[in-house]
Amino acid sequence: MKKVLFTGLVVGLGAIVACQAPASKAEQKAEKPAKKMSKEEKFRAALAKQDKYQKACSNEKQLIPEGISIEQFKKDMLATIKYPEGGVVGDWKKGEKLFGDPKKGGKGLGNCYACHCGDPSIIACGNIGPSLTGYGKSGADPKVTYQRIYNPWSVNPCSAMFRFGVHGILSPEQIAHITAFLHDPNSPINK
Ligand code: HEC
Repeated sequence: MKKVLFTGLVVGLGAIVACQAPASKAEQKAEKPAKKMSKEEKFRAALAKQDKYQKACSNEKQLIPEGISIEQFKKDMLATIKYPEGGVVGDWKKGEKLFGDPKKGGKGLGNCYACHCGDPSIIACGNIGPSLTGYGKSGADPKVTYQRIYNPWSVNPCSAMFRFGVHGILSPEQIAHITAFLHDPNSPINK
């Protein structure tokens, strides 16, 4: 007798919970956007985190932080760069995938084709940055190539190119692979 009553209770409760479940899910959904930062809040948070270099680069009238020469700016940026244990030139085949995988239409972690052309077989490429086709024949020093991918502001203060190493988009090893892709004579960039 008791057992039947208990089972009935559990089933009844289960039905209530089941009936309420969709409602509470909908409530959760309604709450979610309120917890998320608004676009403006995100923008303000990012601004608050800006260092003096970013602030200067965002200010058209100033560009270089007060009291800092362009040479000092570059020196300060060079000081942010970390190097991989295996040296600045890695494996160009790994670098190709990171730069933009030809098998994925040029997409990759670095998404370099968004702004640069490179391997001539990838025709969907951007022109915000200069073409990198034949880059290995340009006489550029691979160490400088590494540095300008890790922190482009070490060469070109306030450049529009992402600071891939500074922001942790690419690891030092990955940047070394991309450096190899740009410099290796067997890379399709240099064929
Ligand atoms: C948002 C656009 C953008 C992205 C993405 C981008 N770059 Fe750039 N890049 C530029 C611009 C603009 C320049 C020229 C200004 C400068 O030197 O920083 C440049 C310059 C360069 C140069 C120097 C070229 C020269 O002729 O001296 C190299 C090398 C380079 N980028 C490599 C890369 C690699 C590798 C990636 C991907 C990991 C990449 N870039 C992603 C915009 C971009």
